[in-house]
Amino acid sequence: MAVNSQSIRVGVLGSGKGSNMVALAEAAALPDASFKLVTVISDTVKAGILDRARERGIPATFIDPGQFRTKLDAAAEARYVAALREANVDYVALAGFMRILKGDFLSAFPQRVINIHPSLLPAFPGLESWKQALAHGVKVTGCTVHVVDAGVDTGTILAQQVVPVMDDDTSDSLHERIQIAERMVYPQVMNVLGRGSAILKTDYDK
Ligand code: GAR
Repeated sequence: MAVNSQSIRVGVLGSGKGSNMVALAEAAALPDASFKLVTVISDTVKAGILDRARERGIPATFIDPGQFRTKLDAAAEARYVAALREANVDYVALAGFMRILKGDFLSAFPQRVINIHPSLLPAFPGLESWKQALAHGVKVTGCTVHVVDAGVDTGTILAQQVVPVMDDDTSDSLHERIQIAERMVYPQVMNVLGRGSAILKTDYDK
């Protein structure tokens, strides 16, 4: 794998509108970028992330996720791994991919699957973390970039950014503030990984 090369090849998986993918694509287009987006894959045929990728000339594909709602079935997992291998990716960047990845998928890209999560992990793992933050009345929350392991939002933390919670926040206003932070921190992490200046060692090695 080209982990120490000047430019790593990144495949993005996403289910939603794709604002993180757009931030990654814009950062990757800068002259000093150390990563490039080579494929975007979605489990949702009409996901905005596919349109945003195509507008930028990045190959973008819907791949059928199979019979389950929250994970890939075995056949789908094989299709996703094959497509990412076909694109010769060094890293997989999850950008709002709303399925749990385990087993053979993680084994295919050990320590090379990265996720952005909308809270300061280990607080508020799982779904709609900004709503969890509001419900708990925390005064700060944020976002976390982490390596994906076999747990849910439990992998090695690579970077975090703090976001304040305002007294008059709604779930939408807080989510938007967190997403602004996400769009800054995720490209920074991918550039660090691309420069080979982060050595990833996780529980997944054991
Ligand atoms: C992001 O806020 C990301 O943190 C979240 O989905 C959103 C995708 O937005 N991911 C999770 O909640 C994963 N558990 P985007 O499609 O605009 O990038």
